[in-house]
Amino acid sequence: MKFVKLFEPLKIKNVEIRNRIVLPAMALNYTPDGFIKDQFSNFYVERAKGGTGLIIIGGCKIDDVGAGPGFIAVDDDKYLPGMTTFAKKIHDEGAKVIAQLYQAGAYAISPKAVSSSAVRSNLTKMVPKELSIEGIKEVQESHATAAERVKKAGFDGVEILGSAGYLINQFLSPKINLRTDEYGGSLENRLRYPLELIKLVKERVGNDILVGMRIAGDDFVPKSNTYKESAIFAKHYEEAGVDYINVTGGWHETRTPQIPMMVPPGAYVYLAENVKNQVSVPVFSSNRINDPIIAEHILRDGMADAICFARALIADPYLPRKTQENKLWDIRKCVACNQGCFDHIFTGRSVECMRNYVASREGTFDLEKKTENPLKVLIIGSGPGGLEAARVAKILGHDVTIIEKKDEIGGQINVSYVPPGRRDIKDIVDYYKLQIKHNNIDLHLSVEATPELINNHKPDAVIFATGVKYEVPNIPGIDGSLGSNICLAEEALSENYPVGKNVVVVGGSATGMETAIWASELGALNSEVARFISLYDLMPRDEIYEKWLKGNRNVTIIEMLPRLGTNVGRTTRGFLIGHMIKMGIKMIKSANITKFEGKTIEFEHAEGNQSLNDIDTFILATGVRANNDLHNKVKESNPSFKIYKIGDCKKPRTMLEAIHEGFKTAYKLDK
Ligand SMILES: Cc1cc2nc3c(=O)[nH]c(=O)nc-3n(C[C@H](O)[C@H](O)[C@H](O)COP(=O)(O)O)c2cc1C
Repeated sequence: MKFVKLFEPLKIKNVEIRNRIVLPAMALNYTPDGFIKDQFSNFYVERAKGGTGLIIIGGCKIDDVGAGPGFIAVDDDKYLPGMTTFAKKIHDEGAKVIAQLYQAGAYAISPKAVSSSAVRSNLTKMVPKELSIEGIKEVQESHATAAERVKKAGFDGVEILGSAGYLINQFLSPKINLRTDEYGGSLENRLRYPLELIKLVKERVGNDILVGMRIAGDDFVPKSNTYKESAIFAKHYEEAGVDYINVTGGWHETRTPQIPMMVPPGAYVYLAENVKNQVSVPVFSSNRINDPIIAEHILRDGMADAICFARALIADPYLPRKTQENKLWDIRKCVACNQGCFDHIFTGRSVECMRNYVASREGTFDLEKKTENPLKVLIIGSGPGGLEAARVAKILGHDVTIIEKKDEIGGQINVSYVPPGRRDIKDIVDYYKLQIKHNNIDLHLSVEATPELINNHKPDAVIFATGVKYEVPNIPGIDGSLGSNICLAEEALSENYPVGKNVVVVGGSATGMETAIWASELGALNSEVARFISLYDLMPRDEIYEKWLKGNRNVTIIEMLPRLGTNVGRTTRGFLIGHMIKMGIKMIKSANITKFEGKTIEFEHAEGNQSLNDIDTFILATGVRANNDLHNKVKESNPSFKIYKIGDCKKPRTMLEAIHEGFKTAYKLDK
């Protein structure tokens, strides 16, 4: 594909952005005391070097009540020198820079949190203080003073945060805003707070810098604003003087997934288009755009004027440059796992990236500098950890060979991307296939590694990345039955095993939940067939819908713990449960399985001994253990070469840990 639109400059007033690629605001938690320091600065300079057109930093703290610890602060002149140096560094790399002004209102985790009304927050579970008229003016003033400071520091603009359920949304929403004064009630009154705010900021910064607005394309909250009101708000913001509108998804508290992998790439572009149809200022589209090809299509289809790549630029800061240089094969796509970014933020840690160990550590590693001591490196196993080790070792100049016992690379990834909503995970295997090809890494498939084979290779270093073995629990009736009506999740997902009508998935971890969802969709019409049947009116529309949405299996999931998905991150677990409810999957928790017998499973439960009968297929998702037999054998033989163990064969953990260990191990091979 030719990227004719993505690299067209975008002129907004007097600010010329070199292309249509925007890195939107992300709270990174790299600024514990609010000051911009090296970690923060290096992160963004790398993205500017990588070709991003516009960088929006933040949310930035503008007062004492709207933001928690860890935010970049712009609420005092003491931050000015750091802000000024930072803006210059970004400009020196050819990008523009904007600061997002953050006021979370009731979403602030603080006893001092304020809102339009004293309505308990669904997010923090706390009741904020209702802002008095004087209080409203103070918050507006904090925005304006902060904006002046941002201008003084040499930034190209400010972005007012009017999305995600924060203070502006709390004024706009009839669900939260219960005021009876001029700031509540009618739509006009609810708009008063943000419109006054925009006008005040504009008055104070003049026309020299941009004033943008980030908005919720649809709150996705019952009894709150929808995409219809959103377009009306945007029109008013334009009239009040905003220079661009950045359209994102709904509120943090919504039950509609907006960022996990299950959201198809480009799913929310329609929200940007909805706004674009109403305004003439540039509109940015956001959320789950991880691929320059999708971005180019959005621009060509006239649905937005610029594209926000948030996590995609954490995963690969050089995405713009690689696209421009026609090196799509080298782009490390964000797969929306959220393991290192959102899940870290929600647990008070700073942002990292599963796919990119260097994210948050910019300036610490130099992959351009070749090793002075090239080693002969043998990597056993081609799961994500082994593949990352191979990539990094080869780029650094080592002589790398991978041995894989299966006939394809990827290890567990090859089953992990099979369940619905997991498709992006396949990008990881595709990426490494291309890395192997372009970096000429020596790969041997369908070869079982043995101590003899390893010795004969005469390596200097061996990295064991042999993954896991699947655990079969020790329950009466199970031994010997595997293969008749009991199989492992891996077997089912690999389609090596036919799945009957009545299905029980044993084990409620991530794998169990995803396998249950997968089983519940077996037999459903795929989208292409549903479209064909619709086109020729072969079935009533509501029947097509039912058969497209749900499969034809009856699925139950059974778990010994009182909670499903204890190993699933906070950004994903609730949505998986919601998906299971929609698919009619029966969930049994706190169950102690005592016996499998034929088509029956028996278990102890708080409500007494119970059984499920007439089950055609039992799928075991009962865990894995480290597969380190070969490593141990080689280690015992006191080898003359260095040996390392990485990823799940050390201890089954997340893919983030496997990939990061792969990177770190390869980087220090010659050290
Ligand atoms: C760690 C993290 C922190 C974020 N913090 C903010 C923020 O402070 N303000 C904001 O408007 N959006 C914030 N976002 C949302 C992103 O700007 C973006 O809308 C979201 O990640 C979806 O886009 P993506 O799929 O391209 O990542 C944050 C995202 C991440 C990953």
